[in-house]
Amino acid sequence: MTITLKNVSMKFSHTTAVNQLSVTIPKGELVSILGPSGCGKSTTLFMLAGLYEPTDGSILFNGKDVTKLTPEKRGIGMVFQNYALYPHMTVLQNIMFPLKMHKVKKADAKIKAIEMAKLVEIDHLLDRKPSMLSGGQQQRVAIARALVREPEILLLDEPLSNLDARLRLTMREEIRRIQQALKITTVFVTHDQEEALSISDHVLLMNQGELMQFDIPENLYDEPNHQFVASFIGSPPINYFEGEIIDHVLKTPFGYEVTVEAPNQPVQIAVRPENIYLSTTGLNKKVQYVERIGKDTLVVVGSEEEKTRFFLQKGEQVDVGQAIYVQADKAAIRVFQKTGERIYLKGQMKDEIQRIS
Ligand SMILES: Nc1ncnc2c1ncn2[C@@H]1O[C@H](COP(=O)(O)OP(=O)(O)OP(=O)(O)O)[C@@H](O)[C@H]1O
Ligand SMILES: [Mg+2]
Repeated sequence: MTITLKNVSMKFSHTTAVNQLSVTIPKGELVSILGPSGCGKSTTLFMLAGLYEPTDGSILFNGKDVTKLTPEKRGIGMVFQNYALYPHMTVLQNIMFPLKMHKVKKADAKIKAIEMAKLVEIDHLLDRKPSMLSGGQQQRVAIARALVREPEILLLDEPLSNLDARLRLTMREEIRRIQQALKITTVFVTHDQEEALSISDHVLLMNQGELMQFDIPENLYDEPNHQFVASFIGSPPINYFEGEIIDHVLKTPFGYEVTVEAPNQPVQIAVRPENIYLSTTGLNKKVQYVERIGKDTLVVVGSEEEKTRFFLQKGEQVDVGQAIYVQADKAAIRVFQKTGERIYLKGQMKDEIQRIS
């Protein structure tokens, strides 16, 4: 199923939860809806499910307008954040429930439910009640139940948020595996950027009800089209430096200049930590602290208000309080207007980027 949203808006009395959202989710892909709390992720998912009718715009499944279709008629499976399992039913009964509601013969329903339980690897727990299961196991029951009627679309609203870090990692790989095995178009809501980037074919990044960027994970990270995207994606966060465009020349604090087709203005220059390195020229900064993150050493330099983060190369060492120079890869700098819009430098044409995605 290809999912198309055309100018979809959802207005509640005082809030516009989703504003003029237009996007096409390709058939068979796993797409994450990512963004900060309250940006409209769940609202978007509920509109896809048919639980909310948009106040404006239309939703199409394989080109067919489903905007006014009830949830039951949409052929979707959904997993909510709290799983919402029936506590008095066993695992098997929970998974069979949607089939029972649709009057599938009990023997057939059982065969199908067991098949789904096997897929999510909980077929040894069929007789247990949900209260006797771990969070990850409950999660799998919820996924099996969502899949049992073989929906063409799977909608997941922060399905991993109640799990600890390790289980979260295993479960997201599991979801990806099941999604790829069934080739089911899946929309996955999360506010965790690392999670979204790691399992998605495309990511839909929202802020305050607006679509910020719909792109492949690589582009979201390397070619953010807005300062919000640059800041939201990446950990440790992207670094910012003041720059200025004067007569089509971008003056950087690193001692080099870049030609650019843009009017005179002050700009923000953004550079990811991995593209900054120790040097004998460039920006003079004082080391604030040094932190080991796994195999890498992260150095934080500058003032409290203006921190710069980068990683040391093998064999390098710095001390707290030391004055050092840092440089940024010329090819890695990304430039934004003070209003947040991207300014594309030569060789970074927007068209090129869109063609890749
Ligand atoms: N039923 C409702 N009535 C009024 N306002 C609502 C309703 N549901 C959501 N909103 C508002 O719409 C905006 C988007 O909410 P939504 O639940 O879609 O956010 P979200 O991105 O899922 O956030 P979170 O990450 O916290 O779950 C918020 O400002 C929220 O307060
Ligand atoms: Mg939500």
